[in-house]
Amino acid sequence: MAAANDRPRKVHIRTFGCQMNVYDSERMSDILAADGYAATDDPSDADLILLNTCHIREKAAEKVYSELGRLRPFRTKPGGEDRRVLIGVTGCVAQAEGAEIVRRAPAVDLVVGPQSYHRLPELLRAARKRPVVETEFEIDSKFGALDAAPRNRSGAAAAFLTVQEGCDKFCTFCVVPYTRGAEVSRPAEAIVAEAERLAANGVREITLLGQNVNAWHGTGPDGKQWGLGRLLFRLAEVPGLDRLRYTTSHPLDMNDELIAAHRDLACLMPYLHLPVQSGSDAILKAMNRRHTSEHYLRLVDRIRAARPDIAMSGDFIVGFPGETDADFAATMALVERVGYASAFSFKYSARPGTPAAEREDQVPEEVKSDRLAQLQALLRAQQAEFNRSQVGMTMEVLVERPGRHPGQVVGRSPWLQAVDFEAPVALIGRIARVTIAAARQNSLAGRLAERLPPGAVEAAA
Ligand code: SAH
Ligand code: SF4
Ligand code: F3S
Repeated sequence: MAAANDRPRKVHIRTFGCQMNVYDSERMSDILAADGYAATDDPSDADLILLNTCHIREKAAEKVYSELGRLRPFRTKPGGEDRRVLIGVTGCVAQAEGAEIVRRAPAVDLVVGPQSYHRLPELLRAARKRPVVETEFEIDSKFGALDAAPRNRSGAAAAFLTVQEGCDKFCTFCVVPYTRGAEVSRPAEAIVAEAERLAANGVREITLLGQNVNAWHGTGPDGKQWGLGRLLFRLAEVPGLDRLRYTTSHPLDMNDELIAAHRDLACLMPYLHLPVQSGSDAILKAMNRRHTSEHYLRLVDRIRAARPDIAMSGDFIVGFPGETDADFAATMALVERVGYASAFSFKYSARPGTPAAEREDQVPEEVKSDRLAQLQALLRAQQAEFNRSQVGMTMEVLVERPGRHPGQVVGRSPWLQAVDFEAPVALIGRIARVTIAAARQNSLAGRLAERLPPGAVEAAA
């Protein structure tokens, strides 16, 4: 008995949804590591399986239940009750559905909302005895407690860093204000300290995360109120940090200082994800976005004036309740006008508890599908055009991992495209100059445009 019970415990975490969940999964892994759990990619090898879930659209939420069904066979393991495999659901479905999950999927031992991850070790111990559901909002203690756990991101060239969580905007289609709670900003000092730790561990690029990242605000070390722009200027001084990004932004919070950061900071990458959702003012109003298409277009002009090579990205919803052909045409016109380097587009999905879900003028599924196909064709053409425009260009690529083919590596361009090229894996974690030879729909192919540093050549030989 002792032998089975002494083997180290392992946790398998499956992540769905946005980058915030990716970050949270890493932090849960860090907290559990401190509690004796090693990470594993193999669910059949795990003592604890966590599904970190997304509630944004119906399909995303339903995935959780089909995944739970698939995990059932992994629950039984030798070693007795003490070593029974625990299954937990975390993330936004956990927050939104709470105890309902245990009712629908009795194999679940633990349901934990995004604001309680720092309590995972104690909740796990309780879950051995009976199912535990924890969906309280207590975000201050979460950030504070997370700061205390060391981050195990060694070896990564790029990392996420959450600076803000939650949302007060209440777009009428969206669950995030309910699943992530009210907007909370992390203190500037904690962010700078985490960035310094990451950089000291070899991270060269940090993406600041928040559901409304550009609403971040806090008291700076100088005692003054800082916004995200000021924070970016400060992070630009962190030694070893070559690149900064942030996502996702709301048009209303794109202020002058943030735009100035795009003008003045070479390390702030020329790529901005700025969702507009629709090009129709009537729909924007019904969505409670609190800006017009004109306001958005003027904003894009100002950002481009500050940083002419910036690539724009966005999110779109088609088939919001009441959307007419004319409303949809306005979205197409806005996309034509902006010219996106990349974008995400979705059919409107009615989410329980949100105001838009109650409306009676829901758009038929076929109309949604048809509009989505038209919009995606246009966005794909713009993306392909943007990628093609870079053929022949020599650019800096942050090398992140080995490529699919031997002898190949993959990195990120300043505009967030994946770039593959032939080079030794010893280049991983460095910035290389690469000339783009060919463009694909979602990536670029290039060749190294510099001589390898001696260390890299030796490692390759
Ligand atoms: N905080 C960000 C992202 C929120 S979720 C923002 O304000 O833009 C990511 C994207 O999912 C949204 O931008 C929106 O395009 C899409 N989305 C959110 N709720 C949706 C719904 N009910 N149906 C379809 N798409 C949705
Ligand atoms: Fe959702 Fe709107 Fe908040 Fe974005 S700004 S998270 S779309 S409510
Ligand atoms: Fe999904 Fe929650 Fe992110 S609903 S998109 S995981 S904030």
